[in-house]
Amino acid sequence: LTLGPGTHDFGNGALSQTLGINHNSLGPIIRAKQGQTIPFDVSNNIGDVSTIHWHGLHIPGEVDGGPHQEIADGGVWSPDVPIVQHASMNWFHSHMHGKTAQQTYNGLAGVLLIEDDTSLSADLPKTYGGDDLTIVLQDKAFENSGQMTYTLSAEVFEDGFQADTMVVNGAIAPVSQNVPTGLVRLRILNACNARFLELSMQTGTLTVIASDGGFLSSAVEAESILMSPGERYEVLIDMTNIETNALNVLGGGATPILTLSRTADQGFTGSMPNKLANLEPPRPQDATVTRSFELQMDVGADLVALAMAWENFCGNANAMAINGQPMKMDRIDETVRKGDTEIWRISVDDMLHPFHIHGCSFRILSQSGAEPPAYAQGWKDMVHVEDGWSEVLVRFDYEATEDAPYMYHCHILEHEDCGMMGQFTVT
Ligand code: C2O
Ligand code: CU
Ligand code: CU
Repeated sequence: LTLGPGTHDFGNGALSQTLGINHNSLGPIIRAKQGQTIPFDVSNNIGDVSTIHWHGLHIPGEVDGGPHQEIADGGVWSPDVPIVQHASMNWFHSHMHGKTAQQTYNGLAGVLLIEDDTSLSADLPKTYGGDDLTIVLQDKAFENSGQMTYTLSAEVFEDGFQADTMVVNGAIAPVSQNVPTGLVRLRILNACNARFLELSMQTGTLTVIASDGGFLSSAVEAESILMSPGERYEVLIDMTNIETNALNVLGGGATPILTLSRTADQGFTGSMPNKLANLEPPRPQDATVTRSFELQMDVGADLVALAMAWENFCGNANAMAINGQPMKMDRIDETVRKGDTEIWRISVDDMLHPFHIHGCSFRILSQSGAEPPAYAQGWKDMVHVEDGWSEVLVRFDYEATEDAPYMYHCHILEHEDCGMMGQFTVT
C-alpha cells in the first residue's frame, strides 16, 4: 500500500486536493481469507508522518497500526497481519495521533473484507460488484469553487466535523447503481469523521445480516439502522419485485444517497436467509473484571485558542479526556490479562459518542442504559454512548505490550485527536 497525495473529482467538475492509498482518494478494497497472513508493505509519501490502523482486526498490538506505529514520510512499515477471525467487514485508516481526523477525512481510508469457508459457501449474494456491493459513506464540505475543504474551529472540535454533502465511494450522492433481479447485498461502512447516519430504504425494509465483527445469528429486519462513524453493517435488499429503490439518509426528511435500478438479468436466486451463525447469548456472569470509562468533552481547555494554534489538527491533544486523563502516548491507562472476560462500562454526560476498542470484537450488554437494537446484538467493536451506561462484554486474545499498546477511544475523530482516548496493554 502506498499513501500519497492526489487530486480527485468528487463529481462536481472540480479537482480537490486529496490523500489516497494506491489511489488518488481513499484506498482499495482488500479481500482476505481467514487463515492467511498478509505481508503488507505500507509506504508513506504524503509529506507528513502517518500510521495505518486495521480497524476491527483481532491482531497483536505490534501490527495494529495505532499511534505508536508511526511511518515517517518516505518510510515503509511492513507488518505481517494474520487474518484469524471470521468473515467480517473491516477497514483501515490513519491513526496518526492528533491528525487522524484530517488525514482520514482527506482520504487515508480503505476497506478490508474477510471471508471464511462459511461465508464463501453461504447461500447469500456474492457476485462482487454485481449483487454484492461495498459502500463507503462520508460527508464532505466543498467550497464554492467545488474544492473539498476541512477547517477546524472550537465548534468543530465539539461536534466533530460534519458537512452538508454525502459522498458514496468517493462520488457526490446520489449515486446510481444497476443491480440484477433478486437479493442485493450492501456492505456499508460509515467512514464519516463525526456524523451518525440513520439509514432506511425508500421502499421496504433493510434485512441486516452482519455487524462489525461478523454475521448475526439470524437476519434482522429493520425499518432503519443508526450507524455511528466507524460502524459496519451488511444488509440485504430484495430487488425481485421492484424496479427501483434507494438507500436513504434520514434526518429532516429522507435523502436518497444510493439509487438501485433493477436490470433484466437474473441475479441471486436464493431467498432471505434465516439462520446465519451460531451465536450464543453473551454471558456477563463469566466476567472477572469490570472497568469504567467516563468520556469527558470539557476539561477546561480553550478550544478557540486550540483551533487557532495549529494547522487543522489537534496539536496537544489535551482538550478532552477519559476518566480525567487526556490521552498521553507515554502513559498506559489499563492493563488487561489475556483471555480474561471483562465488562467495560462507558458513560458520558453530554452528546452521543461512538466508543471503539482495538484488538477485539465484543458483545453489547446495554447501550445508553437500554437493550441494544436486535441488529446490534452480534459481534461489534463500536458501541453508542449517550445517557446511562453502555456496557460491553469483551475478551482480548492477543498481546499488546507497552511499546505497542491498544487504544480505546471515541470514534468522532476530532474528539479522539483532542485526547478522548486511552491506552491499554494485554499480557
Ligand atoms: Cu477506527 Cu482506533 O480506530
Ligand atoms: Cu480500531
Ligand atoms: Cu466523542
